[in-house]
Amino acid sequence: MQKIIAANWKMCKLRQEAGKTAEELCGALAAEPLSGRRVVIFPSFTNIPDVLAASAGISSVSVGAQNFYPAEEGAFTGEISLAMLRDIGVTQVLAGHSERRHLFGETDEFVARKTAFALERGFSVMLCIGETLAEREAGELVNVLSRQTALPLANLPADSISRLTVAYEPVWAIGTGKVAGPAEVFEAHAAVRSLVSRILGDDGGRAVPILYGGSVKPDNAAALLELDNVDGLLVGGASLNIQTFLQIIRA
Ligand code: 13P
Repeated sequence: MQKIIAANWKMCKLRQEAGKTAEELCGALAAEPLSGRRVVIFPSFTNIPDVLAASAGISSVSVGAQNFYPAEEGAFTGEISLAMLRDIGVTQVLAGHSERRHLFGETDEFVARKTAFALERGFSVMLCIGETLAEREAGELVNVLSRQTALPLANLPADSISRLTVAYEPVWAIGTGKVAGPAEVFEAHAAVRSLVSRILGDDGGRAVPILYGGSVKPDNAAALLELDNVDGLLVGGASLNIQTFLQIIRA
């Protein structure tokens, strides 16, 4: 399976800088095509067109959106529809990122609705899951991962499974500099694989890439990518800088 290295730029970079970063990154990737790596960039909405333009024609790079609202159109002030994203050339989205869950109150039910809505409309979805420190310390890891996968993955049409990716991002490791250790990542990814396989069946479960996210840096990326069931990385802070992100892609 190709490793997926995804950049979540969150609410960072103005337009010119985003375009320049994407151009330099894509220029480097075009000059040394990396077999076995697929790069996805999730910029903020206003930067998507510039990042799309920079990555045009580079087959190993694609662009997604960090958020959307699960309705066709209507009175949802401030929200973005999938049709609007498709209209500018985007067909992949994040769902369930811990910042959406914890800062904006997105519940498991809402994340499940978003996931199904996007998959049913032909989008690729990167479903983010992960436990808080309190949940981990209370021994709730598997229960939390089970709760966060059960609803979104229930009753998915078989032909949508190939468009699903799961990103395991322990909340306590996001933006904190505390990367989960190899044993913790190994254990959590094995749990996710088995939960996903239980819902989607063995073949479906095996086909879903599982990414790790949370303080990924150039010096820990290679060790993470070597672990069983780690099919890629979702990178926040270290993806904002071209050199550190390139080092992670090459790891
Ligand atoms: P950091 O890599 O900055 O910890 O962020 C991880 C993340 O939230 C990616 O979605």
